[in-house]
Amino acid sequence: MQAEVIDGRRLAREVTDAVAAEVATMARKPGLAVIIVGDDPASHLYVRNKVRTAERVGFKSETIRLPADTSEADVLGRINWLNSREDIDGILVQLPLPPQLNTLRVMATVDPAKDVDGLHALNAGKLTQGSRALIPCTPMGCLKIIRSVIPDLTGCHAVVIGASNIVGKPMAALLLEENATVTQTHIHTRDTQFICRGADILVSAVGKPGLVKGSWIKPRAVVIDVGTSRVEQPDGTVLTKGDVDFDEAVKVAGAITPVPGGVGPMTIACLMENTLIAAKARMA
Ligand code: GUN
Repeated sequence: MQAEVIDGRRLAREVTDAVAAEVATMARKPGLAVIIVGDDPASHLYVRNKVRTAERVGFKSETIRLPADTSEADVLGRINWLNSREDIDGILVQLPLPPQLNTLRVMATVDPAKDVDGLHALNAGKLTQGSRALIPCTPMGCLKIIRSVIPDLTGCHAVVIGASNIVGKPMAALLLEENATVTQTHIHTRDTQFICRGADILVSAVGKPGLVKGSWIKPRAVVIDVGTSRVEQPDGTVLTKGDVDFDEAVKVAGAITPVPGGVGPMTIACLMENTLIAAKARMA
């Protein structure tokens, strides 16, 4: 039997429509500022998509584009300026950053109340203690997708492949909060395939196209593919590929997210939701 292919665009539209409806009732438009450093084409594409969605839901949006050799003092100064502004509710620094910039120091400079990426140590810490603060957008998007097919995760075995600060670690923390039994695998894990075969829910956030084979998947499992690798084809065109071998996995899984059109749109939708949450908290 073929797996259900989850339509991330449709779910994202439900989230952004709800955000837009609420924004329409607000006295002041929520403000989202995005900082992007350098000229990585994929990052610029992601930022354009975020800005377009922010404008569609009715936010005021501001993009600060900086050259790749921008100093850390310059970036931190701009973040401090955004922290101080009344009209800015959310600040997002697009990652990855060029090597002269210390990502943790940059994240630590964003006011936790405006940290719509949920990457400040305070928000990351709150998540591990179960107090729902601003949650990182990609894991939150994955959780909404999972809940659309499994409303109650209690007792499910969830396996997260990858342990990054931006996806893997907060994903595992969120699933634990949903009462799943969570296993996290990473680069040093000895037998990832064996562990994956026991997963009712499998989230892959590695960035290696085709890593997860059909044989790694438990029949009827829910498979969430966070990978977004840009792969050049023999004819020179560039395709976005997930971590999961989709053609194999779709024959085994119960439900699966496609790439593109799965997690990506939900990440952006959750950024809109976080900006609304931050704005409401600041206006209260
Ligand atoms: N780069 C890739 N995904 C993300 C994200 O969710 N937030 C930020 N800030 N940068 C990213």
